[in-house]
Amino acid sequence: MAKMVISDLPDSAFEGKRVFLRVDFNVPIKDGVISEDYRIRRTIPTIDYLIEKGAKIIVGSHLGRPRGMVIPDLSLRPVSLRLSELLGKPVSFLEYGLNDQVKMVVHELQEGEVILLENLRFHKGETENDPEFSNEIASLADIYVNDAFGTAHRKHASTYGMAFHFDLRLAGFLVNRELKFLTRLRENPDHPYLVIVGGSKIKDKINALKNLLEKADKVLIGGGVAYTFLKAKGVNVGGSITEDEMIDWVRESLKEYEEKIFLPVDHVVSESIEQRKASMVVDQEIPEHFMGFDIGPKTVNLYASEIKGTGSVFWNGPMGVFEVSDFSAGTTHIARAIALATWRGATTVIGGGDTIAAIRKAEVMDSEIVHISTGGGASLEFLGGEELPGVSVLCDKKEQ
Ligand code: 3PG
Repeated sequence: MAKMVISDLPDSAFEGKRVFLRVDFNVPIKDGVISEDYRIRRTIPTIDYLIEKGAKIIVGSHLGRPRGMVIPDLSLRPVSLRLSELLGKPVSFLEYGLNDQVKMVVHELQEGEVILLENLRFHKGETENDPEFSNEIASLADIYVNDAFGTAHRKHASTYGMAFHFDLRLAGFLVNRELKFLTRLRENPDHPYLVIVGGSKIKDKINALKNLLEKADKVLIGGGVAYTFLKAKGVNVGGSITEDEMIDWVRESLKEYEEKIFLPVDHVVSESIEQRKASMVVDQEIPEHFMGFDIGPKTVNLYASEIKGTGSVFWNGPMGVFEVSDFSAGTTHIARAIALATWRGATTVIGGGDTIAAIRKAEVMDSEIVHISTGGGASLEFLGGEELPGVSVLCDKKEQ
């Protein structure tokens, strides 16, 4: 069922109204510098629209996983500055939780003004979907808008619980576009349909694979996810990261979907991420005291030839620690193989913060990918057929 979008309301609906806009500004920041701002840029059409319609806009997001603590490195202050640059107008940043001072600022907001709240995950109630916290943030606004596709798979206070306090629960333009595009891939992919999964949020990825393995024709696995699969097969993975509680399920799925699942046949390994000089390529087995940090050249060739003949491809999660140049070759080659597949006519979709950063590092242009999704985990779950809490909570179009 299609969801109600902000543009479905009459122009006057937002005039003078306080709108809570949940976005996903979970972007990479190091020493206060944002290295990739795609997720911020993609929300600008929604914010511009709300400004133009005379709304008073309260923007909320999370950044990282502070687990209910105030962690200065995870402050959204740098994001408020970038947002202000992109909008071409000031954005007030409310750094102190949700105290009375903040509530006063919110109530004094003028039409067309934008404020950004501090990291919502500094409050324990956010990830716990705590009713009291939901109530508190909901009391700031009259209308709820969700443009946080990247977090739509989380049942948190600001993506789910608070929405029930509003009659108007609308999708922003980003969420609307993501749903349109990913629904097409979910319902009617061009075959062969390839899914490539890597990255380090191993448990999330493996959970999503439970459904995707049925839908995809082939699944290529790399990055942190691969070592759990290799371990389940009895391959020695040395000290590489694994998610041992998933091993039994992985073993079963390897039996059931043996033909579909592709695993790395060689690896770039090292004793630690700091020991880059001592890195080497090994086939299959990873020696004790070594860890896998990238897929090796044989795996790159194997995966690239699969990507070449594909009808559609979805990629989430780098093939290795691509931020470190000694371990970035696998990810770079996969990114370039996907760009080539686009030119050969495949429907190519990539998703997730790290994967977006990876295509930038590989110097693949946005126009060389058919759709760049702001969601990694969210896209994987959606493509697997799951209902995303942050989407299900929005008004259906027919409710207008
Ligand atoms: C993401 O980057 O995948 C989203 O922002 C969600 O973050 P999370 O996995 O910490 O919930």
